[in-house]
Amino acid sequence: MNGILYFSSTGNSLYIAQKVQSALGGKICYIPKYNGDGGEFERIFLITPIYSYGMPSHVFDLLPRLDKTKELTVIQNYGGMAGGADYLIYSYAMSYGLNIKSVYKMKMPENFTLTFTVPKLYLKGILRKANSRINNIIEKIKSGDSNIPKKCKTKEKKYLKNKFNWHLIGENFSVTQDCIKCGKCVTLCPVDNISLQDNNVVFGDKCVACLGCYHRCPKKAIIYKKQKKDRYINPDIDESQIGKDIT
Ligand SMILES: Cc1cc2nc3c(=O)[nH]c(=O)nc-3n(C[C@H](O)[C@H](O)[C@H](O)COP(=O)(O)O)c2cc1C
Repeated sequence: MNGILYFSSTGNSLYIAQKVQSALGGKICYIPKYNGDGGEFERIFLITPIYSYGMPSHVFDLLPRLDKTKELTVIQNYGGMAGGADYLIYSYAMSYGLNIKSVYKMKMPENFTLTFTVPKLYLKGILRKANSRINNIIEKIKSGDSNIPKKCKTKEKKYLKNKFNWHLIGENFSVTQDCIKCGKCVTLCPVDNISLQDNNVVFGDKCVACLGCYHRCPKKAIIYKKQKKDRYINPDIDESQIGKDIT
């Protein structure tokens, strides 16, 4: 069976994971809850957003523990500037001795939208093309060819510097009076960084900047630096499935 390991905060990577599952079969596993090394699967697919020209913390931490004997295919998705992230993940995988066969990347709607709003028409256009983009990748995977990213200058230093500072983002979140203390943000945070204390939402110092709480708050009550910008959730998936394993 294929193991389709994914991280997703707003559903784009889950959308891709589900397409891979329906085309190639396999079990979808949410990385923050996955303690394995992929050894129980025949092949491993790693579906991840690009963060700061690199990858989310959970993916960064998962890579070195993956089973070196299993064939690994990575599918990255990003909002606009991939900046050598495909070569970066490939080089990390090589340095850990992983059996990496391919890295693909595709554009999806941007979710790092704390300070700006993506125009709706532009967003719709990207979503319209998502199906054919992932189908092209699936066809390439089916062909059996490998897809090694061209050697390029990565922005590794910038990535590591940003990664080191992601926790600062959490410091700038607060909630408005619209908050109904439903606890959804507490449950969905992949690092248990949010808690309800004396009926107040409290953000800790472990934020990994995924922005899941911000985008998926049912009342749009979580704000960043007092700004209220548009929220995004991939409209082509069932939001309640983000963070779940799917067989
Ligand atoms: C912390 C953070 C950093 C990001 N950095 C980049 C980036 O460097 N380049 C880019 O094109 N998109 C970037 N994005 C956008 C995401 O890669 C993109 O929206 C992705 O499709 C989100 O996937 P998801 O819905 O599965 O979480 C970033 C998003 C976040 C939250």
